[in-house]
Amino acid sequence: MRLQDKVVVITGAGAGMGRAMALRFVAEGAKVVAGDVAEDRLVALAQEVEAAGGTLTTVAGDVSKRDDAEALVRTAIERYGGLHALVNNAGVMDQFQGVATVDDATWERLMAINLYGPMVTSRAAVRHMKEHGGGAIVNVASVAGVGGGAAGAAYTASKHGLIGLTRNTAFVYAQQGIRCNAIIAGGVATRIQETIDPAKIDQEAMAQLGKWHAAVPDQLQPEDIANLTLFLVSDEAKKINGALVAADAGWTAA
Ligand SMILES: NC(=O)c1ccc[n+]([C@@H]2O[C@H](COP(=O)([O-])OP(=O)(O)OC[C@H]3O[C@@H](n4cnc5c(N)ncnc54)[C@H](O)[C@@H]3O)[C@@H](O)[C@H]2O)c1
Repeated sequence: MRLQDKVVVITGAGAGMGRAMALRFVAEGAKVVAGDVAEDRLVALAQEVEAAGGTLTTVAGDVSKRDDAEALVRTAIERYGGLHALVNNAGVMDQFQGVATVDDATWERLMAINLYGPMVTSRAAVRHMKEHGGGAIVNVASVAGVGGGAAGAAYTASKHGLIGLTRNTAFVYAQQGIRCNAIIAGGVATRIQETIDPAKIDQEAMAQLGKWHAAVPDQLQPEDIANLTLFLVSDEAKKINGALVAADAGWTAA
């Protein structure tokens, strides 16, 4: 088992990629703390894990709220005696608005969930990891973190910001055995479309973005991202730090 007795916090573990990670990590021997704002999804996840003979700890909360985000790391330390890895996976989409049409509420929501939340969990995790022999952080970014043609201004800026957070964390704490990497996810079949408010979609910007979207070579499944995340949090990736690793079926190669 590739994560035997490793303590891992996963945010947004109730659906999509985070759910796939939680199921796989438990199967690989990890002690998982699964967070999500949707409590019913966590209940369903726990039932699925238990039906398969496993166990995990769930913590309901909103990563954009400091207390909730910190509670994930605290729960791992209190319940399992430490923290080896953190996966900042929770995230929401915008409405493809360009800067001319983006509204303040969308901007603030995206920055809070996609960027502030990962900063708070990373801060808590790194404070612990520094004193306990290091650890691994994986930030689930996006093709929108390295290019401007995938999403709206808010989502694109939030994921570019997450990559900045990744690189800074990777370099600053490299001597303390802390690794921090980002996944450049392509189009993955998940529930993230449900976070889009149809009434706010910027049709003009979306038509322009569609030109780049036409180059999508293939859709991924959540398990494809879970596989890469498993590698990045495991000791197999012990010399991989500050990397942006694409799992996008070749989209950014276009
Ligand atoms: N699906 C894609 O095509 C795609 C592509 C690139 C990157 N991503 C990124 O992958 C990550 C996972 O997304 P997904 O596609 O699996 O989406 P998803 O909607 O299927 O799952 C995300 C989970 O995060 C939870 N969540 C949302 N806001 C939260 C909050 N404030 N606090 C705690 N939990 C919260 C949701 O309840 C949900 O269960 C996101 O960061 C997303 O931006 C997705």
